[in-house]
Amino acid sequence: MNRELNTLEPHMTRVAAPAPGYRSGFGNEHATEALPGALPMGQNSPQRAAYGLYAEQLSGTAFTAPRHANRRSWLYRIRPSAVHKPFKLLPEGRFHNRFDEQPATPNQLRWNPFPLPQKPTDFVDGLFTIAGNGSAATQSGIGVHMYVANRSMQGRVFYDADGELLIVPQQGRLRLATELGVLEVAPLEIAVIPRGIRFRVELLEEAARGYVAENFGAPLRLPELGPIGSNSLANARDFLYPVAAYEDVEGEFELINKFQGRLWSAVLDHSPLDVVAWHGNHAPCKYNLTRFNTLGSISYDHPDPSIFTVLTSQSDTPGTANLDFVIFPPRWLVAEHTFRPPWFHRNVASEFMGLITGVYDAKEGGKGGGFVPGGASLHNCMSGHGPDAASYEKAVVADTKQPQHVTDTMAFMFETRAVIRPTKQALEAKELQADYYQCWLGIKKHFDPYKK
Ligand SMILES: [Fe+2]
Repeated sequence: MNRELNTLEPHMTRVAAPAPGYRSGFGNEHATEALPGALPMGQNSPQRAAYGLYAEQLSGTAFTAPRHANRRSWLYRIRPSAVHKPFKLLPEGRFHNRFDEQPATPNQLRWNPFPLPQKPTDFVDGLFTIAGNGSAATQSGIGVHMYVANRSMQGRVFYDADGELLIVPQQGRLRLATELGVLEVAPLEIAVIPRGIRFRVELLEEAARGYVAENFGAPLRLPELGPIGSNSLANARDFLYPVAAYEDVEGEFELINKFQGRLWSAVLDHSPLDVVAWHGNHAPCKYNLTRFNTLGSISYDHPDPSIFTVLTSQSDTPGTANLDFVIFPPRWLVAEHTFRPPWFHRNVASEFMGLITGVYDAKEGGKGGGFVPGGASLHNCMSGHGPDAASYEKAVVADTKQPQHVTDTMAFMFETRAVIRPTKQALEAKELQADYYQCWLGIKKHFDPYKK
């Protein structure tokens, strides 16, 4: 997988708009062209497109999906995406969807950060599947992956036919060169790459690490706001889409495709990132998590964590998510005579958590290695969890007349309706904390039937 291929320079003839530019608005019908007049007016598929381009539709939902849920884009490209040699199956690696290799565990699990690579490793090489559920075949469920990388993808481009990718950088800025344009993302930002979009990950710093949710189900969208009203949480205008940028580059390229849990590789004689203009709403985007308008209690009691939902992939059951992406940003805690940290609970849904930066307010104790940036935890369906002993003892004596400013933190959760099954390689990883459960064993009995 580390085979050296041509880099861009020897074959570069013309690359337009290398610097990223953005259009805003989640799910909008965007229209952008890197050359004037490249987008046809008044129709999608003219007899001959401008500049000798090929028109191609990319459908992210069924043709007949309801209008509010329909996702498709029209691409005007130098060559159709069909132009490549046959895909060849690659050997099985660490990036996969093998969620059934062992019984799913009800135990609370936590991992230390996966170390940055020593050998040359790009984004695709550095993907490690930690857990998942459902299947790409049935288009429901998710894969949960970590990535570590120390070099850019060189001469190769990736797309995921199995699902949409939600990329959560934890360390190192990335430049995502996609068919539809360039997104630059840093830690505290996320990127969403829709199913099928081809892209190359370049590192803008020495090394990179982060999390990926691979969403096999319905595309992520903003959650309903109900009585909250028409604003707040993640606001639609803060989602940024790339302007068109293309590579007119010839030479040997490798196209890697994740298809039904396996990686396939095809050879091209040109860069597949050759879309000169596009319009539509099946497009990659990025979002700055610090723009999230965090809401919470201003009276008493911690609301359900669904109040922190950034994006959701709905299942066929109304209100029940295939995937919720939830964040725990800096915020003020002002609720009175109440236990302010997230409460102890058990949940029919399953919760995979990661920490981008800082400390998570329910896990301040260091037992079992702690919950540290780049680490992860998993609390499965009906498995009890909540604050560790140290966080509990601190919270029950806190002065709730005083507001508390939770700062310098950003934790997140991938929450799904189905049990999250850790992979064999994740359960055997040395990063798994064998003694995580001990963070609760220190919780004392305070019960006294004679003292209220
Ligand atoms: Fe939870």
